[in-house]
Amino acid sequence: MSASSGLIHVFNGIPFTARSAPELLRSLNTFQARDDDLLLVSYPKSGTHWLAEIMKHLYPSKVSLTAPIEFGDLSKLEELSNINSKRIIPTHLSYDMLPTDFKVKKCKAIYIIRNPKDTAVSLFHYYRENPHLPTIDAWPAYLEMFLRGEVVCGSWFDHILGWEEHRNETPTLFLYYEAMKKDLPKAIRKISSFLGININDNEIGEICKKTSFSEMRSNVERERSDPNHTVCSLTSNKRLIFRKGTVGDWKNYFSNRQNRLFDEMYQTKMDSSTLAKCIHYEN
Ligand code: A3P
Repeated sequence: MSASSGLIHVFNGIPFTARSAPELLRSLNTFQARDDDLLLVSYPKSGTHWLAEIMKHLYPSKVSLTAPIEFGDLSKLEELSNINSKRIIPTHLSYDMLPTDFKVKKCKAIYIIRNPKDTAVSLFHYYRENPHLPTIDAWPAYLEMFLRGEVVCGSWFDHILGWEEHRNETPTLFLYYEAMKKDLPKAIRKISSFLGININDNEIGEICKKTSFSEMRSNVERERSDPNHTVCSLTSNKRLIFRKGTVGDWKNYFSNRQNRLFDEMYQTKMDSSTLAKCIHYEN
């Protein structure tokens, strides 16, 4: 991936797409948060759309699921400030780049994590399909880029570790894609209790139906997509999102050698991480 493709620019050492204007990134720290803002945080391809859909159904009162804070140009900050209801704000930003006022106001965050091997495979396909991302080489060269953190949004490891380090300063609920696949009602109960929302079993059952992979995928076929209404700064085209929605697809891509290299890096980088104990990591 070369920055000269025009699709990518590097800010603070992290590759961003042209959909995140440098002026916006430079002015993020002027953003005024509100005490009741809720952040939906993820490294790309970890289940962002799934989590966002759950949130839409979870709140009984009117809330606004906004576009990501890093998506667009300078007008984004004003656009967000004009929203009157509670704001649910998605982001792929690293903790370092999160506007300071969210930290000062101790806004809550929900962070969704997925096995990095499946995340890498999902991002590989995204690179291939998404016109906002540059052309990449075949899988082996791409995987090396992923491990070096030279893909959009930077290193998976740095993203997770940065958010983990500050989990108590910015109260963060960590959710795991694979645990959600296994027991979605349990994950919804966790979210509700983190946010202080009362919800009964029937309502949870309804949310599970409405947010199943098949339901969400078929809804996209019917929906007309609004380019400004996106929860992922990398695309507004939801048709690119619903690929397989499974656990363990990485096994169809990794050679033994690639798997060994990945495991070595994971062990080194995640050695001191307590989150690593909960991540569904398969050797
Ligand atoms: P795959 O490419 O492995 O299929 P994001 O929303 O962060 O871009 O993540 C996209 C990934 O989440 C895709 O993974 C997509 O299929 C999966 N996904 C989206 N909605 C889902 C759902 N309701 N249930 C399970 N997986 C879902």
